[in-house]
Amino acid sequence: MESLTPPRVLLGVAGGIAAYKSAELLRRLTETGHSVRVLPTASALEFVGAATFEALSGQPVHTGVFVDVPSVPHVKLGQEADLVVVAPATADLMARAAAGRADDLLTASLLTARCPVLFAPAMHTEMWEHPATRANVEVLRSRGVVVLEPASGRLTGKDTGPGRLPDPAEIAEFARLLLERADALPHDLSGRRVVVSAGGTREALDPVRFLGNRSSGRQGYALARVAAQRGASVTLVAAHTADLGDPAGVEVVRVGSAAQLRDAMCAAARGANAVVMAAAVADFRPVALAEHKIKKTGSDPDPLALTTNPDILAELVRTKEQGQVVVGFAAETGDAAGDVLHHGRAKLLRKGCDLLVVNAVGDGKAFEVPDNSGWLLGADGSETELKPGSKALLATRVWDTVASRL
Ligand code: C5P
Repeated sequence: MESLTPPRVLLGVAGGIAAYKSAELLRRLTETGHSVRVLPTASALEFVGAATFEALSGQPVHTGVFVDVPSVPHVKLGQEADLVVVAPATADLMARAAAGRADDLLTASLLTARCPVLFAPAMHTEMWEHPATRANVEVLRSRGVVVLEPASGRLTGKDTGPGRLPDPAEIAEFARLLLERADALPHDLSGRRVVVSAGGTREALDPVRFLGNRSSGRQGYALARVAAQRGASVTLVAAHTADLGDPAGVEVVRVGSAAQLRDAMCAAARGANAVVMAAAVADFRPVALAEHKIKKTGSDPDPLALTTNPDILAELVRTKEQGQVVVGFAAETGDAAGDVLHHGRAKLLRKGCDLLVVNAVGDGKAFEVPDNSGWLLGADGSETELKPGSKALLATRVWDTVASRL
């Protein structure tokens, strides 16, 4: 029988106030089957005690290179890791890593690691924007380290701006992604502006009821997240979704109905290099919105009289600008008329978009689950199978193809 060893993750924690969020990240990583060894810096232990990391990881925690010397941990831990995640990565930690220092167990391990390395920075906006930090980030990225864009929002104290640690759930998603695909996050979309729609629209019937659908928004959010980390300027037009945190470094425009989603997409698509319609748009909406709650008896007119919504993707294709790439999604089930791919090809022709992601749905596939698979069809006849994996992995395959066409 094949023995599945859990992926070995080194979780470096540097000394910033966001260190407390590393406990949540650690819990997520261990609960999803990773074996995690935590390497805090001495300053990180001023914020979170070693006991927290030891209890959550089930492994000992040291900071220096002079503990347990016979097992040579400063070399072994890095060599044996499948992934190193540093969260939070402070300005000082990044400076030391960029300079190749090895003055504690974490920086020494960074020099011996040959696996993917993910940094999730957290610091004040001034420190993040300082030329010294910018230069260190550039050096680290040029060596293949994935340095995430921080989130914007409330920082320690009253100030706000870029520099917040991305959500632990988002860091965990990227950690899984780098284990699935080490080269998932090249900076190949920098200077590009992209628009992604996500979630399911709700078409109001009366003040309390609506017609909706089961879309969680996870695939659209993954597309927005991955594009932002590949350097794009991203607008995410979000209809109703599961409880998902805002993606770091992304402008989020919230909408409710198909009509609102249409307006937001058409406005955002102007001047964009790529537009991705991952939202589940209601094909129909009630003819009229009842001013008062519709009563069970004697309702007149028929409360479920419906009219057709405009096809937003078709409109985006009609108004497409020179060089813009428009991507659609199609959730299909096979039937007597043909399989999923057959229906996908027909839809690509009908919709006229440049690329169409075809997902097989039904039997618990695609909706409300973290994984996805399918086919990426191109108007030029290209057909790429999207092997099962995380929604972030599928997003990387879509952006690979979009980037190659821009
Ligand atoms: O025709 P179907 O709904 O399967 O097409 C799915 C694709 O079309 C998705 O990209 C979806 O976002 C988009 N769509 C749209 N407007 C609609 C219905 C679907 O843009 N009214």
